[in-house]
Amino acid sequence: MTSRFTKPDSRWFVHDRFGMFIHWGLYAMPARHEWIRSREEISIADYQKHFEHFDPDLFDPIAWARMAKRAGMEYFVITTKHHDGFCMWPTVHTDYCISNTPYQKDLIRMTVDAFRAEGIKVGFYYSLIDWHHPEFTIDRIHPMRNNAAERARNPLRDMRKYAEYMRNQVLELCTQYGKIDLFWFDFSYPGEDGKGHQDWQSEELYAIVQELQPHALVDNRLDLPDVGDFVTPEQFQPAGGLRGADGKPVVWEACQTFSGSWGYYRDEHDWKSVDMLVRMLVDGVSKGGNLLLNVGPTARGLFDQRAIDRLEGIADWMRLHSKSIYGCGAMPDGMTQPTDCRYTYNAQTNRLYLHIFAWPFRDIYCPGLGDQVAYAQFLHDGSEVHFGAVGEASWAGMGGYADQVPLAFQVPIIKPDVVVPVIEIFLK
Ligand code: GLC
Repeated sequence: MTSRFTKPDSRWFVHDRFGMFIHWGLYAMPARHEWIRSREEISIADYQKHFEHFDPDLFDPIAWARMAKRAGMEYFVITTKHHDGFCMWPTVHTDYCISNTPYQKDLIRMTVDAFRAEGIKVGFYYSLIDWHHPEFTIDRIHPMRNNAAERARNPLRDMRKYAEYMRNQVLELCTQYGKIDLFWFDFSYPGEDGKGHQDWQSEELYAIVQELQPHALVDNRLDLPDVGDFVTPEQFQPAGGLRGADGKPVVWEACQTFSGSWGYYRDEHDWKSVDMLVRMLVDGVSKGGNLLLNVGPTARGLFDQRAIDRLEGIADWMRLHSKSIYGCGAMPDGMTQPTDCRYTYNAQTNRLYLHIFAWPFRDIYCPGLGDQVAYAQFLHDGSEVHFGAVGEASWAGMGGYADQVPLAFQVPIIKPDVVVPVIEIFLK
């Protein structure tokens, strides 16, 4: 399919591999899911108390940016507006924005400045869905979906006006904050009582980004077949590398939460461990994908201690292991991953990284690696790792089948003290 749109360069994105998602808004106050208005069918009037009391007095974007940087995140994506329609910047197109809360200050500008100062690339999440805008029709996921009186007013609502509102807002976001590296529009749900590209007037919306920020990558949720610089699996790790209709690998980014919800959820307890999060990052890169890991700051503007602990754990790992992430992707065709391991591969340096998810007894058998290995070391301390066809010596004398044993790395009995040990393999 030919498109009138140009394809921006996604090399930085594929190289960087790891970003921070930030879901922040009024929903941090009720603190029980960013979809609270829809889940609990809360009216605008009943949600208003949060707008009137939003005052994140401890907000310190420099601290956020430093935590992201230490964790190895090279880009970030922040909610400029989520489904509740509240705008985190002082837009002139609605009163329902930060300027009219007790806090008043432009949270987007402060965050963008702080992250940029750390050298982190800037992404804007913008919700296509808006449960506050008067022209937005009631549909199957709307908080007022079961309210007959609100439903009855649908014919009086004009989605074309809402689409124009979005264009005006995206124009602000494209012109007031300097270079934006990425846009994350969220989301389409076409079909009965849903919404899709015709409702959003997606082509026109996208054309604004193309014109004003032509280098910016845009996600694939605008419901346009020819728009989408990256695919966005959400809250799951794909089974393997993702491929397009033509069979070629596509650029993708899994977005993941710490605990299930995106916004700050005080009483949610399913927090993933550092160990699991690192393995998710590695797993994605081994399949040629990125990880966008979400933080939901509190209503006072802090990262929850549970988030800080995890970011620090990831930082400890990344400090020693980022070489197996940045610039890396899936292993070369024809290789087989050893049991309980993930390979990532840096084509530029021709190094293969063996991530050991479960610690084995001594030998890691690597079928297919044959005589391709020139040298190997642990990544965390640069200590040499021996390899060869093990078992050979002992088996030979016992009439063994040494010739059938694949190349193996010999690791110590005790697992090194890092969450996921990595062997750096210099290929011939
Ligand atoms: C979903 C949700 C939303 C979240 C997004 C992030 O589409 O609607 O709450 O912002 O996923 O990927």
